[in-house]
Amino acid sequence: MTSSNQTSPYENKQAEHDVVWHNTSVTQAERAQLKKQQPVVLWFTGLSGSGKSTIANAVERKLWLSGQHTYLLDGDNVRHGLNKDLGFSDEARVENIRRIGEVAKLFADAGNIVLTAFISPFQSDRDQVRNLLSQGQFLEVFIDTPLEVCEARDPKGLYKKARAGEIKHFTGIDSEYQAPKSPDLHIETSSKSVEQCAEEIVQRLGDLSYLTGNQ
Ligand code: ADX
Repeated sequence: MTSSNQTSPYENKQAEHDVVWHNTSVTQAERAQLKKQQPVVLWFTGLSGSGKSTIANAVERKLWLSGQHTYLLDGDNVRHGLNKDLGFSDEARVENIRRIGEVAKLFADAGNIVLTAFISPFQSDRDQVRNLLSQGQFLEVFIDTPLEVCEARDPKGLYKKARAGEIKHFTGIDSEYQAPKSPDLHIETSSKSVEQCAEEIVQRLGDLSYLTGNQ
């Protein structure tokens, strides 16, 4: 865990002194040059059922079709593997996002356009990931769908269970969601289709000059 009052069972303070960073001879810029693109992490955040994964999938397909090298990290999937030891307490969510941030950084270092779809409820965690990446390589994408709409959709039946008290610490019900203060992309989904939302994101990426070279 990374929270201030808990230590990881694997913590090794000595490692900070004994493990020395080794620069690779092929750089991020060189990897990206071969792929003819700008590495960037598109960090989708929003409530459960807001459409993060669906829209991120649609964006990834559009980018792939236009010849971009992409990778999508999805909350539910990552929680089946790398983060299967983590639950939904505040501390576990902090660690979830810390690990994903590091993984996203590696994929971006490989020269990819990375899409991540995690609730990532805390602003400080999202800011920490932004700080991990180079200037301009992190875009916070707020998938803004009101709680009432997410709850009405309830694609996995989880809100119903949370209201019935069968799931504890459910985001938006009894666990906090901090909406982005100044997202790089603000996508209001209520009156738009998945296709329109995905198109809006791809357009913005183009306008911001992230999609040069392969198109
Ligand atoms: S995060 O808060 O740590 O970023 P993450 O995106 O990885 O969450 O996982 C959220 C997904 O886990 C939801 O889409 C939902 O399917 C499932 N889930 C199960 N329990 C909870 C819970 N208590 N709160 C939110 N999502 C939950």
